[in-house]
Amino acid sequence: MSTTVPDLTFHAFAQPVLAQLEVDIRAYLAGKNLPDPLAAACLYAMTNGGKRVRPLLVASSFTSITAHAQAITDAQAQLPSTVRGAMLAVELLHGYSLVHDDLPCMDDDDLRRGRPTTHIAFGEAAALLAGDMLQNLAFEVFAEPMFFEAHDIALSHSLLTTFAPAARRMIMGQMLDLNGEHRDLSQAGLEAIHRDKTGALIAASVRMGALCAHADAATLTAVTTFAEHIGLAFQVQDDILDVTADTTQLGKPAGSDEKLAKSTYVKLLGVKGAQDYAESLFAQAKTALDRVLPTNSLLHQLANWLWQRQK
Ligand code: IPE
Ligand code: IPE
Ligand code: MG
Ligand code: MG
Ligand code: MG
Repeated sequence: MSTTVPDLTFHAFAQPVLAQLEVDIRAYLAGKNLPDPLAAACLYAMTNGGKRVRPLLVASSFTSITAHAQAITDAQAQLPSTVRGAMLAVELLHGYSLVHDDLPCMDDDDLRRGRPTTHIAFGEAAALLAGDMLQNLAFEVFAEPMFFEAHDIALSHSLLTTFAPAARRMIMGQMLDLNGEHRDLSQAGLEAIHRDKTGALIAASVRMGALCAHADAATLTAVTTFAEHIGLAFQVQDDILDVTADTTQLGKPAGSDEKLAKSTYVKLLGVKGAQDYAESLFAQAKTALDRVLPTNSLLHQLANWLWQRQK
């Protein structure tokens, strides 16, 4: 598709969107009056410097499709509350997944985003409950009047039909990931793990933005293909960075996968093979998008940002 939308840079777009997300996270958690140390552990897990990839996918998908790009550059402009709700839900679910992923019974990592992991900072019981709570709160967003009013019921239901299976698949993927330790999996076996544990929520994020935009069927299909490719690519990159980046750069322990004898794309294809695979996935992702969006869309730019990520 030719370029028709004003050339909004992704980074200018992301700044106010992420500032709003930060406000929403804090207000939402504060509104639940959680007892300490649960409250402190939840806040710690949610506000310590993640890239916010999934909420940015929701917002970019919505804005690319509705072509509201110009308006969003205005710092006063707001995304609709339904989009903000979807952004909050995906980040809460992601935050929970990381708290549990780092626990001693899972990957047993003590550093996340450059700080002690939640169970190191607050103890295992509080971290376990913080993960449980963040997962529950992710679903409660869809019944939250602050984000979904009575007339949004049909939309919140359709968002849940995308979100809930992705949440389930993430847990299935985490089980397959643990089952895959000390084993030599085929590429198909590994792909199934990555698509579930990481790809599903990333794909759901893009689809939820598109559903908020009331995208037509062709657009929904195209952005879903895009999202499935970048979702897989994202975990392939995570595997690569685990061996090519250092702990300071990553903010989490480099070499964690090798320590646990995980099945990864680097183990299967080598670093160069995994990089080539990720590159081809990003290219296929953008080709799918080209059919329905201008080539400078926020989603294209987001894909380029992800391809270049160093952590
Ligand atoms: C890390 O996710 C875990 C994976 C699913 C690969 P991110 O790389 O999105 O982590 P943060 O939120 O930016 O720290
Ligand atoms: C985690 O994958 C995927 C999740 C669903 C949390 P990893 O175990 O590779 O994530 P990091 O490397 O610890 O962030
Ligand atoms: Mg893991
Ligand atoms: Mg891990
Ligand atoms: Mg990893």
